Amino acid sequence: MNRSECVCVVDDDISVREAIVAAVRAEGWDASGFSSAKDFLSHPARQNAACLVLDVDLPDISGLALQSQLQAADDRLPIIFVTGFGDIPMSVRAIKAGAVDFLTKPFDAGELIDAIRRAFGIKAMLAQGEGQNAEGSSAFDGIIGASAPLQHVLGHIKRVAPTDTTVLIQGETGTGKERLARAVHALSARRNGPFIRVNCASIPGPLLESELMGHEKGAFTGALARRVGRFELADGGTIFLDEIGEMALELQPKLLRLLQEKEFERVGGSRTIRADVRVVAATNRDLRKMAEERTFREDLYYRLSAFPITVPPLRHRREDIEALMHHFAATCAARVGKRIEAIAPESVHRMGRYDWPGNIRELQNVVERAVILAQGPTLDVPAPGEPASSIVEDSPPLSQGLADVSRAHILRVLDETNWVIAGPNGAAARLAMNRSTLNFRMKKLGIVRPPRGER
Ligand SMILES: Nc1ncnc2c1ncn2[C@@H]1O[C@H](COP(=O)(O)OP(=O)(O)OP(=O)(O)O)[C@@H](O)[C@H]1O
Ligand SMILES: [Mg+2]
Repeated sequence: MNRSECVCVVDDDISVREAIVAAVRAEGWDASGFSSAKDFLSHPARQNAACLVLDVDLPDISGLALQSQLQAADDRLPIIFVTGFGDIPMSVRAIKAGAVDFLTKPFDAGELIDAIRRAFGIKAMLAQGEGQNAEGSSAFDGIIGASAPLQHVLGHIKRVAPTDTTVLIQGETGTGKERLARAVHALSARRNGPFIRVNCASIPGPLLESELMGHEKGAFTGALARRVGRFELADGGTIFLDEIGEMALELQPKLLRLLQEKEFERVGGSRTIRADVRVVAATNRDLRKMAEERTFREDLYYRLSAFPITVPPLRHRREDIEALMHHFAATCAARVGKRIEAIAPESVHRMGRYDWPGNIRELQNVVERAVILAQGPTLDVPAPGEPASSIVEDSPPLSQGLADVSRAHILRVLDETNWVIAGPNGAAARLAMNRSTLNFRMKKLGIVRPPRGER
């Protein structure tokens, strides 16, 4: 994205719109909000749009109608749809019509930012001429790292991708599991079919079944219309079961049957539905251990781990750190319109010594923050934990929607780290914040540590 471009957000709900705009700006990108498709179409900022975050359900012209209108005009702006829980049939159409992603409310800021990054990637690819990504190693474009451990993993991915084998990607948080899951899809014969991600951790347990398999009208209170599930949506493509370790035990036998038989019934329905779907799952938990401890079904574990891949943590491939720093500095500088010519050697050494509990995502955050704060052409990257995160305190008050998403994210990390804040494996390090910033944020968001028994 170059300097004059911006992310355009069309949503009639002002709180959602403002939360999205704020999250995009917090990333250092330009953003404009519009309350309707008409507003967007008639506004001059439209010419500078680099990507569109679009609510499906809009008052005058619907999101889908806007999408077809843009297509008719041969405007290939990448579109990320935002949908409510009941909108799956619409997202099927949106994806078939070429939307690059869709997010189901409520989503967190991280998911949104990742989707926007992918949209930028797609836009750049279109600009370079299509087709290049259709085969071969270009599916690994943007995956940085020449270290032996990473190359070993990429070799496995290349081999397993063209088969229909179920792949289980394990690795610590931020190691690139989702990135690699997408590469599996892109290197398979299903690459032109849908890639459907399901975050098993963010969909409430009771909703997950109908989310995966769909439901018939009247299946339960509130099921006002039939809904197509994600498995059906992924027909002909790949379903990515992210955070599979968080899936409720009661649901696991159903998933097992689905994987074995490739068929299922919608909740409240009797007709058996078949879907031709390739499964890729990911988790940062130790599923084998969970299976031994009976917190994850053993039979499902074996089924999922037909082809297990373990992504090495960044501290086991330190030789990749420097290349990653250059990559993130260059892409971020281009996005925010800054000139970065070099990275201070001392910064590279400093980064090489750090342990990176948050892995590549943490490194990316640290480098991008440094680029945003940079005053000259030589980038100095402060060690994580040093007070570079003052921008967090200085930023304008969080709008409620954004406060909610960051609250959920912080709570999740606190939970994962057992409420340990300091230290290399603590929550502050994982969030790439210093300790006092995290304490400040927690206070501001009303997060208090629960008594030991309730954790
Ligand atoms: N090898 C790589 N080269 C460049 N960027 C990478 C690489 N691996 C991961 N990234 C980037 O790092 C970020 C985190 O990656 P990703 O979301 O795939 O991690 P994850 O393992 O799924 O994390 P989590 O466990 O937190 O869900 C993304 O922005 C991704 O594009
Ligand atoms: Mg992930």
